[in-house]
Amino acid sequence: MLNQEIERRRTFAIVAHPDAGKTSLTEKFLLFGGQIQVAGAVKSHKIRKTATSDWMDIEKQRGISVTTSVMEFDYRDYKINILDTPGHQDFAEDTYRTLTAVDSVIIVVDAAKGVEAQTLKLMEVCRMRKTPVIIFVNKMDREGKDPFDLLDELESELAVSVRPLTWPIESGPRFKGVYNIFEEKLNLFQPSKQVVTEKYEVDVRTDDLEQHIGASSAEKLRSDLELIAGIYPTFEVNAYLKGDLAPVFFGSALNNFGVQELLDSFVEIAPHPRPVQSQERLVDPEEPKFTGFIFKITANIDSNHRSCIAFCKVCSGKFVRNAPYYHVRNEKMVRFSSPAQFMAQRKQTVDEAWAGDIVGLPDNGTFKIGDTLTEGEVLHFKGLPSFSPLMFKYIENADPMKQKQLAKGIDQLMDEGVAQLFVNQFNGRKLIGTVGQLQFEVIQYRLENEYGAKCRWEPVSLYKACWIESDEVEELENFKKRKYQFMAKDREGRDVFLADSNYVLAMAQHDFKHIGFHFSSEF
Ligand code: G4P
Repeated sequence: MLNQEIERRRTFAIVAHPDAGKTSLTEKFLLFGGQIQVAGAVKSHKIRKTATSDWMDIEKQRGISVTTSVMEFDYRDYKINILDTPGHQDFAEDTYRTLTAVDSVIIVVDAAKGVEAQTLKLMEVCRMRKTPVIIFVNKMDREGKDPFDLLDELESELAVSVRPLTWPIESGPRFKGVYNIFEEKLNLFQPSKQVVTEKYEVDVRTDDLEQHIGASSAEKLRSDLELIAGIYPTFEVNAYLKGDLAPVFFGSALNNFGVQELLDSFVEIAPHPRPVQSQERLVDPEEPKFTGFIFKITANIDSNHRSCIAFCKVCSGKFVRNAPYYHVRNEKMVRFSSPAQFMAQRKQTVDEAWAGDIVGLPDNGTFKIGDTLTEGEVLHFKGLPSFSPLMFKYIENADPMKQKQLAKGIDQLMDEGVAQLFVNQFNGRKLIGTVGQLQFEVIQYRLENEYGAKCRWEPVSLYKACWIESDEVEELENFKKRKYQFMAKDREGRDVFLADSNYVLAMAQHDFKHIGFHFSSEF
């Protein structure tokens, strides 16, 4: 029999392109979980999405991100763990890593905008890991795309089969509500942030429907439902659990509409903690012994001391405060006297945690992203591969007296996963790769504030970092010799070719047919 503590856990992330409504939806979930009493209590903590985010914003984000990194609460008989992901796209890597610690994902899509750039990337990561996905189409109170067109778009762009479980009745100013296809209940829209609207059991075949939503909407709903039944296969929970089928819900997060349907279905169909693949073996959550891995490290806002919080996902067994655990990479036993769990805005010391939970471990540089903790077994949980950064800059020391501090700072920030580091094999210079400009600013600021080191950036125009491999040793060596100025090593010592243009890369691929050029570190 499944351990009930584990079976009732739901660990997931809500992800979205900025502005689609992730914060609003998270807030409504917390409302249902009794964590907050009124809507509006969770202040938006995202960095403004302009390129000119200033330091105050980043500081604020870091300040709150420690306590809102995980939000846990009980809902019905379930224990919910929502893992927060940063809103700003420059921190996309952080989001991808968080996705390694969840068992499922809710993707929020803006009904008017459909699939956006960030949604696509996030879905790619979910597909790689076969993470089950539920889609919430938000902002139905605004004029949006036709729902059938939207479903087609979701299916083709996200490369996943979809199946609506609720259906909107009109949209924008004419939005009347949603029909729950499986419960056969009608939920009529009432714009309000606080009230959860009543649901009506309506037999759509009778003129009961007309009385609630009027003749023309009733006729349209009937024909829509017929079409849905004709086009879309019946909903199969197993197909969803395998990551092949995404159920779709419609609503308005701001108005707390359609959210409870989503949450109720979510707790019922979303997976409880699942087995996790380590390099050595598949680890089952119900194994009695504790195992876990670090998927995120957050800097402490108090710049006077450098202590961070390392977030550990419990993969199996039970984590117990003060118990000795084995830090596999360091080959050392460690104990935690004040591990923390998070409830909305609060943080509290926790005595035990089960598979599926996240515990925050105070860390002063002993952890790297991807580190594994066990009761003694040598295990390595598989993380997410690194992807080629989009921006590159050489990092230079701007204060000759602080060489050591700079080296240490860079080392630790890279352990935290703030950005990627490559060392050019030709001149030994350190190259930092990021997703966006903001990461460079964060690094510079933190080096100065936490390590007392000063750095300078030297821009370099590169197209991609390519991890290279080949069975043809001679050809590989030839290539490395020919391109010696563009060869670098990543932090794991893997060979990386720094292609400065698409053309150069295409030529290299043409000339060296037996070499594989990869845009991510695992292939
Ligand atoms: P994000 O975390 O995904 O970036 O999105 P967030 O929830 O912050 O929502 C982005 C904007 O969209 C917010 O407006 C929010 O109020 C609005 N919004 C969210 N859900 C709905 C909805 O269902 N209907 C409508 N009409 N709007 C919605 P804002 O002006 O940027 O911020 P605020 O001043 O309202 O906080």
